[in-house]
Amino acid sequence: TLDNPTISDQEYDKYLRELFDLEYQYPELRREDSPTQRAGGKILDGFEKVTHKIPMLSLSNVFNESEIINFDERIKKEGVNPNYVCELKIDGLSVSLQYEKGKLVKAATRGDGTIGEDITNNVKTIKTVPLTLNKEIDIEVRGEIYMSKDVFNKINENRKQEGKELLQNPRNAAAGSIRQLDSKVAASRKLECWIYHLPNPEDYGIKTHMEALEFMKDLGLRVNPNNKLVNSISELLEFIEFQTENRDNLPYEIDGIVIKLNNLQEQKKLGYTAKYPKWATAYKFPAKQVLTKLIDIIFILHFFKKKFR
Ligand code: IVH
Repeated sequence: TLDNPTISDQEYDKYLRELFDLEYQYPELRREDSPTQRAGGKILDGFEKVTHKIPMLSLSNVFNESEIINFDERIKKEGVNPNYVCELKIDGLSVSLQYEKGKLVKAATRGDGTIGEDITNNVKTIKTVPLTLNKEIDIEVRGEIYMSKDVFNKINENRKQEGKELLQNPRNAAAGSIRQLDSKVAASRKLECWIYHLPNPEDYGIKTHMEALEFMKDLGLRVNPNNKLVNSISELLEFIEFQTENRDNLPYEIDGIVIKLNNLQEQKKLGYTAKYPKWATAYKFPAKQVLTKLIDIIFILHFFKKKFR
């Protein structure tokens, strides 16, 4: 909640997963306040609350090839075509943007999934969020606000010179910036935004997710050019392999690949759990850095010296 975690995201995911499994095995031990029982973070004071007309859900995670294959098998078992849109999982914070007659009127964080915070003033400072669309349309779109690696490094260089505590990573930096009550400070952080979700596509006669992405792009919204339609598990794994290799060449951080069923009718057929759509999942990259415990140090040089003296 305070954008300053004490463990890495990968460690957090690992423990959360372990907790899910334990609660599944021993349901009588599940607590009301378990972190498995909520979709997002806490609502902070200082911003107006916004109720999402359609809840802002999170994504289930998969961590390796066999879990990706399981996801695909589950989809196929439902008698559904395995046509997926693969997207980069942008490491930022999700945002909902509401346009009325083509004008940006409200921007909100996810909050707990049902109620978020009104961050309109700060979002209006993001240059990659259009204030006016190409059409006078009423629409809600969702996407990710993030800070580029360059901006993040520059801010930290300055903070170092000023003797200030360094920001942990671009995601925390973006989240911290968007919660600035002074929008001038938020503006100085040079945030950016990618749009990846249309919550009510049927209102616009849209039949596939790929069409929704095109539709939003045509409205002037910033849609990531790396999104790709794949028609088989082998193409899907190829995309993941390529993007994993290419990850360090991107100007922004990604923490995985999102896999979404393309056909919206089929998405409906699969439906949702309380927190996640069953028609999508996120493959999370393995940790680049993990915490470890130093158990022992053996001074080999000392040992050899003694032995051969
Ligand atoms: S789709 C129902 N697509 O990842 C659709 N999410 O771990 C839900 N994210 O809450 C979101 N890139 O903040 C989607 N291309 C992408 C994404 C993406 C980043 C974030 C988003 C979501 C979180 C889930």
